[in-house]
Amino acid sequence: MMAIMKLAVISDIHGNLEAFEAVLGKIESAGVDRTVSLGDNIGYGPDPEAVMSLIRRHRIPSVLGNHEIVIKDRRFLKWFNPEVRKHVNLIQAMLSDDSIHAIRQFPRALVIDNLRFVHGCPEESPFLYLFQMGESRMKNCMARMTQDICFAGHTHDLGLKVYDPVHERLEEKPLGKGIHLLEPGFRYIINAGSVGQPRDRNRDAKLLLFDTGSLTLEVQYVPYDYQTTVAKIRRAGFSESFAEKLMKS
Ligand SMILES: [Fe+2]
Repeated sequence: MMAIMKLAVISDIHGNLEAFEAVLGKIESAGVDRTVSLGDNIGYGPDPEAVMSLIRRHRIPSVLGNHEIVIKDRRFLKWFNPEVRKHVNLIQAMLSDDSIHAIRQFPRALVIDNLRFVHGCPEESPFLYLFQMGESRMKNCMARMTQDICFAGHTHDLGLKVYDPVHERLEEKPLGKGIHLLEPGFRYIINAGSVGQPRDRNRDAKLLLFDTGSLTLEVQYVPYDYQTTVAKIRRAGFSESFAEKLMKS
């Protein structure tokens, strides 16, 4: 029996301190029991250490994102495009030993009662994007899920996959700002979007609040001072494309 709780889920903060602080303010006023990060707390953004030290200070458990797995094992560098690869050493040099230690402890998946948390895809891939799975592969994946609800990030886009295990039917639904009611008896993959590098044509930070008792999912769009983040990216000498993405989104 699952203990009823209110949960905040955040993903892909990507070293964006301004976005993360704005989201933490909303989490505080929502009065949640737990917050979970779906990984990629670092990468692209100019404040990897400030973000990681907030993650540590607030004791937010996180799964391992693809941008963190390279801190753990350099062999995964080959999976990144040359532009991102260039920044990995730069970003690692900005991290404290405590943050590097914390990142090395991140698991590939977390399970709390009937909920699973991953970066990319269930069961525990930090690399595979949800959109890379064809329909039959996704159906198999959701049929095998040992929890009814899985939160995933990595795509920086919001979305909902609904699987009916009785009729073996899969439905994809858009996930926008506001309240969404999930139904018992179905399985869900909830794509949480991104706090600090959204790619859903809306530049606000994305925050999910989930009530495990009523199965109510609330998607919040949290505005923040993105111009400060853009200025910091430029000052740090990071790729202009990382700054442009924040302005365009
Ligand atoms: Fe990411």
